Amino acid sequence: MADEKKMVGEVYYPAPEVVAHAHIRDYEKVHADASADLAKFWGKVAAENYEWFQPWEQTLDDDNAPFYKWFKGAKVNIVHNALDRHMRTAVRNKAALIFEGEPGDTKVYTYQQLHYQVSKFASVLRAMGVQKGDRVTIYMGRIPELIIAMLACAKIGAIHSVVYGGFSTEALHERIDDSQSKVLITCDGAWLRGTIIELKKIANEAVDRSGTIQSVICVKRTGMDVEMVQGRDYWYHDLMALPIADPTAPTQVMDAEDPLFILYTSGTTGKPKAILHTHGGYMVWTSTTLKWVFDIKPEDVWWCAADPGWITGHSYIVYAPLILGATSVMYEGAPTYPYPDRWWSLIAKYGVTILYTAPTAIRGLMRFGESWPNKHDLSTLRLLGSVGEPINPEAWRWYHRVIGKEKCPIMDTWWQTETGGFMITPLPCVPLKPGSATRAFPGVDIDVVDEDGHPVAANEEGFLVIKSPWPGMLRTIFGDPDRYVQQYWSRFAEQGWYLPGDSAKKDEDGYIWVIGRIDDVIKVSGYRLGTAEIESALVSHSAVAEAAVIGVPDELRGNIIKAYCILRQGWEGSEKLEHMLKDHVAHEMGPIAKPSTIEFVDNLPKTRSGKIMRRILKARVMGQDVGDLSTLAD
Ligand code: PRX
Repeated sequence: MADEKKMVGEVYYPAPEVVAHAHIRDYEKVHADASADLAKFWGKVAAENYEWFQPWEQTLDDDNAPFYKWFKGAKVNIVHNALDRHMRTAVRNKAALIFEGEPGDTKVYTYQQLHYQVSKFASVLRAMGVQKGDRVTIYMGRIPELIIAMLACAKIGAIHSVVYGGFSTEALHERIDDSQSKVLITCDGAWLRGTIIELKKIANEAVDRSGTIQSVICVKRTGMDVEMVQGRDYWYHDLMALPIADPTAPTQVMDAEDPLFILYTSGTTGKPKAILHTHGGYMVWTSTTLKWVFDIKPEDVWWCAADPGWITGHSYIVYAPLILGATSVMYEGAPTYPYPDRWWSLIAKYGVTILYTAPTAIRGLMRFGESWPNKHDLSTLRLLGSVGEPINPEAWRWYHRVIGKEKCPIMDTWWQTETGGFMITPLPCVPLKPGSATRAFPGVDIDVVDEDGHPVAANEEGFLVIKSPWPGMLRTIFGDPDRYVQQYWSRFAEQGWYLPGDSAKKDEDGYIWVIGRIDDVIKVSGYRLGTAEIESALVSHSAVAEAAVIGVPDELRGNIIKAYCILRQGWEGSEKLEHMLKDHVAHEMGPIAKPSTIEFVDNLPKTRSGKIMRRILKARVMGQDVGDLSTLAD
């Protein structure tokens, strides 16, 4: 790193007491050690911090790259490390999860209680015929049973596929079908902003469209009336009261490389991809990144305010905190319900020491002014975090000053569903620059390169690339290994580099500034959506012949969705139709995918091969030069 005194731009140096407290105090040394010999470094971390049923023969097997294997030959189960092993220590009686429902109900699970519930539900799933390797779809609100369901699957070696509760019928149906899930776990409804999202109703519609689900398990959360199909649907509480719900259920012995879960995410084209993570490498990566970046200590109260339905929740609400034996807070509802200080009141109520959230949430809460956070005692906070999109410096400074009282460093973590855990991120000992995720996590080999793979000059834009494997990396796209190679490893195949799909700059100090996606992925309020899926929701309406969708920058949400539609004969564009189409997208895909505006057009710019040139649409909206038009058909 450059000499601290000579660093360029707005720099926040770590306070000595923060560094003194941290697990990692010398970034340069740890990064150099890890980079010098990845296998040796991660082998040591893995051996010292986890329980393996059987050790590995080879730490990193790169013979069949990019199908890398980590901890090859080892036997393990992530749930053994997240729950079972804590039953032998004082962690057993510690709060694992502090849950607060939106209506104000609260529930605390100790590690013992969580282990008990997970074991019972695991044996229920086993009794229902779920076997190692089977896929189970989970579609729920942000309640403890969601975590119990995920862990119960992992305990018996089933592969969970969580579909975010904000998604809707078609999105859920497509993910159920692609994964060929036998069982769906859902709940009657979920509380949001004082109203109920009718999840079971959506689940019923999705299951009607798909052919693989044999059983549906429904958790009673709101008590609302729901339709239960006899012989297919079961209440969770009924099953958990049966003798088959055995709290002594054994944990399945897995290979380190056996799948733990799949999680669908959007990519360049076509349908969403099922990103596959494994028991061994993911366990090591998520928990080590959390421990070092957020300096997790036994006395901490950690609050990752994401949804468990996305990777942030998988890694940093469910798996990593439990592996570390930490106490987590989980809140069900909206940050502004019933008032804009709900979050701040929760920090004071539970004495939260570390808050991890997204820039869009910070910007949203910033709008209500300082008086709301200032009403509450936030003095327990010692670290803050950001994830999901670049954080604008203004939001960073507000977060730092108003929430962190200028004493809490902000860990701006860049990573992806595919990476399993943090990749570019400060550690508490690293100087910060608002808007930059700073530098690579120890051992991560990251660069910004041009078309030919040459590093770009300082402050020039280029492709972000990752040049060597890491334990938490995705292993494949479930059911589509060719697409895995094509999507991530073909652009710089010669060099063998992973392409995340982001553009970035690197400054004079080697700090990375992520700019945004280079593909047809739109980040709306930090949620990752594919243009293709929204377009296909639009054309599933009988009025629409063709559709194109782009992201337009928005101060609050990062991006908003703008759609262009060519109508079928007999239909005419109107405000009423615009509303109908927006509602249609919300019904098929979910409210987050709802376009903000729809423009009715007669044609769309396309290449001669028929591919829609979204960049032309975008340039036009932004009032920018449309660039090279040589491939345009018309
Ligand atoms: O574009 C980057 C952006 O989010 C993408 C990954 O989205 P997803 O798989 O949904 O995972 C989000 C949570 C890890 C990346 O390709 N992104 C994520 N974190 C940051 C970010 N962009 C800038 N700064 C970040 N800290």
